[in-house]
Amino acid sequence: MNIVILTAGGGTRMRSARPKALHPLAGRPLLTHVLETARALQPVKQVVVVSENADDIRRVVAAPDIDFAVQPQPLGTGHALQCALSRLNPALPILVLYGDVPLICAATLKRLIQAAGSNRYGILTAILDRPAGYGRIVRDSAGCVLRIVEDRDANGAERAVDEINTGIVSIPAGRAAGWLAALNTHNAQGERYLTDTVECAVADGVEIVTVQPEDRWEIFGVNSQAQRTQLERIVQRNIAHALLNDGVRLADAARIDVRGALKCGRDVSIDVNCVFEGRVVLGDGVCIGPNCVLKNAVIDAGAVIRAFTHIEEANIGARSVIGPYARLRPGAALDAEVHIGNFVEVKSAHLKQGAKVNHLSYIGDADIGARVNLGAGAITCNYDGARKHRTVIEDDVFIGSDTQLVAPVRVARGATIAAGTTVWKDVPERALALNEKTQIARLGYRRPEKSSKKDFK
Ligand code: UD1
Ligand code: CA
Repeated sequence: MNIVILTAGGGTRMRSARPKALHPLAGRPLLTHVLETARALQPVKQVVVVSENADDIRRVVAAPDIDFAVQPQPLGTGHALQCALSRLNPALPILVLYGDVPLICAATLKRLIQAAGSNRYGILTAILDRPAGYGRIVRDSAGCVLRIVEDRDANGAERAVDEINTGIVSIPAGRAAGWLAALNTHNAQGERYLTDTVECAVADGVEIVTVQPEDRWEIFGVNSQAQRTQLERIVQRNIAHALLNDGVRLADAARIDVRGALKCGRDVSIDVNCVFEGRVVLGDGVCIGPNCVLKNAVIDAGAVIRAFTHIEEANIGARSVIGPYARLRPGAALDAEVHIGNFVEVKSAHLKQGAKVNHLSYIGDADIGARVNLGAGAITCNYDGARKHRTVIEDDVFIGSDTQLVAPVRVARGATIAAGTTVWKDVPERALALNEKTQIARLGYRRPEKSSKKDFK
């Protein structure tokens, strides 16, 4: 089978400089959803019809199994398909998909392809309560399809028909070229309608078959931002139900957003309003608190991520406890049982088993040993204005509160850093490091006072 995906229409109702096919749905471009479904059908040829200057689309979906055809001007869906013909195998039927109908399911398409075989004309139709805007399926008294009439070309009786053309069709092998060449523009939009090939098929005695989708949302198109958000909710609901079926405990199936691939082990629980982007893996028993954002992250078994935590390109070890309000940035690699508390930022740092950074810290470009305890406000000064430098803290070090570690610097095993120390030289094993400071008490000191308003009266 050949598959042709049309994307060359105007898309003006999106009111955006971005091509419609590249607007996101569940974190991926609309067209990517269609291509994924198309690939599942293992077509012999797969052609995306694009307008001129569609470099963005080509770049985003480029792959060895995809061919592009240019439709220089949007002269209609029939003309769009015609532009792809030279790249197709004429001995095989053509399945036509739309770049802006992203939720169509492979199972539905397989039923259409099977019903059509290689010699019948297959149309995916649907019965809608409000069919306005769609092309209508016109049948004779015996129920045989005669033609498709566009909404704008339909008369009153035709407008009353509630069976609509989803646009997705399977055209029999070897027929498209002749039928498309015969199309005219005698219609309300002055376009060459692909839908007019149905009448050609009927005239040629080709059997027309119709198939309906399993779910009505499969055929919804994206023409506006409002429609895009409607489809986003549908996709998210589907993802949430798939997670629930896998045994994931969602606090609320309507309050989770997965913009990529989320893989969960057994007994995972996810509280409300979490966003998962890219590839996220949650191990057995992982617990995600409310309002967390996780992007390209691996969370090992039994870890607890508390509310309002951001994790991006980071690995969290088993049974670690993170947050609330923690920020783990790219390159944060935590072994098992690490504790990261509130307002702690970690970037490009490896923390070994049992390390604790519980309050108000910045740990960047660092190696933190096992069981190290960093006190409140401890900070690695990793950047000298030009280059980044590493801080190495060996096992069992204790770092007092409000310590600055001026990298490059090494604190050897078992050392202790007194509170408020600026560590700018390496600290030997088991030593106590401190900066000598004095404390003075000025007795009888009078704090400046604000003059009260009364004085001005
Ligand atoms: C089309 C169908 C209509 C159907 C509806 C379903 C025709 C004439 N009408 O109408 O029966 O109910 O889809 O949504 O086919 N495109 C091009 N080049 C063009 C015009 C369109 O590539 O010159 C592409 C668009 O990018 C889009 C698809 O074809 O992906 C459909 O175009 P659109 O203008 O949305 O079709 P409708 O008028 O909605
Ligand atoms: Ca149109």
